[in-house]
Amino acid sequence: MTNQLSPDLTRILVSEVTIQQHVWELAQQISADYAHVERLYVVGVLKGAFIFLADLCRQLTIPHVVDFMALSSYGKAGAVSGAVRLVMDLREPIEGEHVLIVEDIVDKGLTLHYLVEALQGRQPASLKTCALVRKERHHEAISVDYLGFEIPDVWVVGYGLDYAERFRTLPYIAELNPSVYRA
Ligand code: PRP
Repeated sequence: MTNQLSPDLTRILVSEVTIQQHVWELAQQISADYAHVERLYVVGVLKGAFIFLADLCRQLTIPHVVDFMALSSYGKAGAVSGAVRLVMDLREPIEGEHVLIVEDIVDKGLTLHYLVEALQGRQPASLKTCALVRKERHHEAISVDYLGFEIPDVWVVGYGLDYAERFRTLPYIAELNPSVYRA
């Protein structure tokens, strides 16, 4: 088979098959853990989590509802402050709900930290976190309740992750060629 990887990408880090296997395993585990609750309140973090969230939710075997928050973190690629900006909030209150935050990636952990602080203050019945990938260098500092993979500290794209809005809809996670962001 021809290698059709774009020259903008150096290698596939997590294949489509491996992602789907892990998404299924995460969904099984989450479904088992929340089997006793009336419903799970799944909070997807836009934009990056939209593909992971869609695949994960369709594998859940328990009652659940989905809502979204949109956040944007400044300070990418070593720039400025690292602050997180709330772009869009949840539509409904989450008081008394069993909430699961679904993120695509935990990098520095700023976004997840912001979300946990913000949502904990709204009195959910419980609050847990799920991320498809986490950068290895931060694995001790940032705990994630349901985690798919740890990945090296390189710029990754695909399966929701972007570089300047490109590559989000690739079915796999790949390393971005440094020549793209150094250009
Ligand atoms: C990305 C990603 C996570 C966040 C993780 O979002 O989707 O939400 O960064 O980084 P952190 O752990 O260092 O906070 P981004 O701000 O790029 O916005 P996007 O999801 O709209 O692409």
